[in-house]
Amino acid sequence: MKFIQAFHHVFGKKGDVRVFFAPGRVNLIGEHIDYNGGHVLPCALEIGTYVVARKRKDHLLRFYSENFSATGLIVVNLQSLLFDEWHGWANYPKGIFQFFKEQMDVELTGMDLYYTGTIPNGAGLSSSASIELVTAFMINEMFSVNLDRTTLVKMAQQVENDYIGVQCGIMDQFAVGFGKRDQAILLNCDTLSYLYTPLPLQQASIVIVNSNKKRELADSAYNDRRKTCEKALAKIKQKQSIHQLVDLKVGELENVKSLLTSVEFKRVRHVVTENERTKKAVELLRSDDLSSFGVLMNESQLSLRDDYEVTGFELDSLVEAAWQHPGTIGARMTGAGFGGCTVNIVKNNEVSSFVHEVGQKYESKTGKKANFYVVKPSDGVKELTEQVE
Ligand code: GLA
Repeated sequence: MKFIQAFHHVFGKKGDVRVFFAPGRVNLIGEHIDYNGGHVLPCALEIGTYVVARKRKDHLLRFYSENFSATGLIVVNLQSLLFDEWHGWANYPKGIFQFFKEQMDVELTGMDLYYTGTIPNGAGLSSSASIELVTAFMINEMFSVNLDRTTLVKMAQQVENDYIGVQCGIMDQFAVGFGKRDQAILLNCDTLSYLYTPLPLQQASIVIVNSNKKRELADSAYNDRRKTCEKALAKIKQKQSIHQLVDLKVGELENVKSLLTSVEFKRVRHVVTENERTKKAVELLRSDDLSSFGVLMNESQLSLRDDYEVTGFELDSLVEAAWQHPGTIGARMTGAGFGGCTVNIVKNNEVSSFVHEVGQKYESKTGKKANFYVVKPSDGVKELTEQVE
């Protein structure tokens, strides 16, 4: 297995290793509503993060990433796992180790860990949830902690919130933890109840397009959106007894308008309508109506562009180019926004012309090259026991 050879090259050959994998995710619809208790519809991807792991007899954690090979080896002691800017990417696994040690009281030993990932960085396909979950799952298995998947998923979210400092919802970690081949996951982010939904993709494909616009400052803008929603909720609660924003019906929006600033109102309108769209979207998929599903994806994009204001020039240009293509059934940004990727449903026989034409239009408008990935819904985090190439 090539990862094991690479591990041996960095850490030496002595001792048994185990290999784990966690996918990235793409969200089909239901954006920016997980932290408002809404419904989301992500699926896990075939691309993701691998870790090759071996226990040590001392208390050292030695981290190496093929993707950040210039950084070299990062060595920390289990006694000092605080966030350290200098440790860059390794803060994600460090945060997970710290959680097991401090919150779960698990007796850990040192480890040698070789990471390698196939998710493009900063593209909004959840490379961070992927590295968090692969680490949490690996520790859970190798130290026989016996936590269930939901606990691991919540742990990863908490590390992202408190250790990394991004106030994300539960969607990414859940999709990475619970993904299933050929299925999307309809997740109620309030109760964490979920249903697998098969996708009627006999004649069409999911195409992810990376705008290659890095998500700079995205984390602070993300936290800012979340705060606005909390503020709006507090104001509405003084007049109407709701538990969270998605408890409002579309028809009730006008009643709360006067309580809110115009920006708050737009944010709330996105949240409420997006939740409705997601629930409707699942019914459409169940009745094999992919083209109406596509229409909802397009409406989601408009709402994210005009009401939630998280798209930006590159994502808008990419989606508009997709909308102009005859093979497109639906197109929208996916993930947090402010850069990153779009998700598109494209007729199978039009995929290559889509790649060509959308790529060209996007480049001539923005000067940036887009990358295209035809993807399939895939399994969640797991141990790899067979040959991996
Ligand atoms: C990021 C967050 C998720 C979710 C999406 C937007 O991916 O990590 O929790 O809020 O943005 O839907």
